[in-house]
Amino acid sequence: MKDEKYGVLVHGAGWVSGQHIAAFTRNPRTEVVAISSRKLASARARADEAGLTGIGIYDDYEMALKHDGVDIVSICTPQHIHCENVLAAAAAGKHMVIEKPAGNSLDELRQMRDAVRNARVRTIVSFVLRWNPLFKTIKSMIADDAIGQVYFVETDYEHNVASWWSGYEDIRKVSTGVNALLVGGCHAVDAMRWFAGQGEFEAARPIEVFAYSGGWRKGIPREFNYLTNEFRESRPLEYEGLEVALVKFANGALGKVSVNFDCIMPYTFPIEIFGGKGTIRDNRVWSHKFPGQRDWVSIPTILPDSADVSHHPFQGQMDHFVECLMSERESHCNLEDAIMTHEVVFAAQECYRTGCPVKLPLLVP
Ligand SMILES: NC(=O)c1ccc[n+]([C@@H]2O[C@H](COP(=O)([O-])OP(=O)(O)OC[C@H]3O[C@@H](n4cnc5c(N)ncnc54)[C@H](OP(=O)(O)O)[C@@H]3O)[C@@H](O)[C@H]2O)c1
Repeated sequence: MKDEKYGVLVHGAGWVSGQHIAAFTRNPRTEVVAISSRKLASARARADEAGLTGIGIYDDYEMALKHDGVDIVSICTPQHIHCENVLAAAAAGKHMVIEKPAGNSLDELRQMRDAVRNARVRTIVSFVLRWNPLFKTIKSMIADDAIGQVYFVETDYEHNVASWWSGYEDIRKVSTGVNALLVGGCHAVDAMRWFAGQGEFEAARPIEVFAYSGGWRKGIPREFNYLTNEFRESRPLEYEGLEVALVKFANGALGKVSVNFDCIMPYTFPIEIFGGKGTIRDNRVWSHKFPGQRDWVSIPTILPDSADVSHHPFQGQMDHFVECLMSERESHCNLEDAIMTHEVVFAAQECYRTGCPVKLPLLVP
């Protein structure tokens, strides 16, 4: 454990990076000591916005990694650059926060995993919803036997991702975004794994996947902006906007997960969890623990009902990671765990090619 504060380098000064900077600035055990990006002006703008003076500002990642006092690198670049960023940070012996999706292929994930293992550094992948208050409440209830043994989970990422997102130009292409399940659906895949795991801090291990893809939006140069409720011309998605996967878990539970970039409606993230002694639908509970209940019990809490990064619980995620570093333990959301989430995505892709169910794991452990 370090006596002084952990120094943080935030790399990739776009939309999400502002939340990483804010969370590390608020944590009493960390301080942002440098920001780097492709453009110097972007890194400087983020520092100014956060009121950070006297920190390192770089447009050269290798130089930023050598900045005095960097212990943690927060990787906030577009997903197709994460692998090279992780390999360089591991070679420099830095702990890492890796934005989702962690990598764009199985080969990238293998390289990243091996580099992290060799460097013996710690990681957390930004499946930030694990710290959403509804998610935390649900996991606490499941671990407390409120709904018994979980046998079926359904989660869906229903989000008309379009050009309002600064990252859209990168994610809409197959070469840099890959597919909808990887770009955004990975949040729903991770949530499905999280809720299918019976322990409070445990995600279930997927063992088989079957999937279809479809929808209407691929190649159509028109988009719907759910923030303004308007249709307009746009650069098209190069892949299908709808993917639906069925997943078997090692503990016997089944999961159904979808991503829907084609939906004409505001962002939603519905959750259904069925157990042998109860059911959870979003924030509503039916449980054997409430023998007199005659209607759904609703829990007033913060739902995962916004795609805005300022709504996401990055503070909880970063505080957890700092605790892991201080107590020298691995996060439940480290790269090794996140690879299981990503493998569901790549298995679904394999399924579109072969039409057959795909057994996991795909990477040799
Ligand atoms: N966990 C979550 O809920 C969540 C939410 C939103 C986003 N994300 C993820 O976070 C990552 C970034 O997304 P974002 O929304 O912040 O995208 P973004 O606004 O496009 O920001 C990415 C930034 O990376 C910089 N960049 C691009 N190419 C680079 C390169 N080769 N080297 C260094 N910097 C480079 C760009 O900065 P310049 O201005 O310097 O060119 C850009 O501003 C993505 O993986 C995304 O999926 C996660």
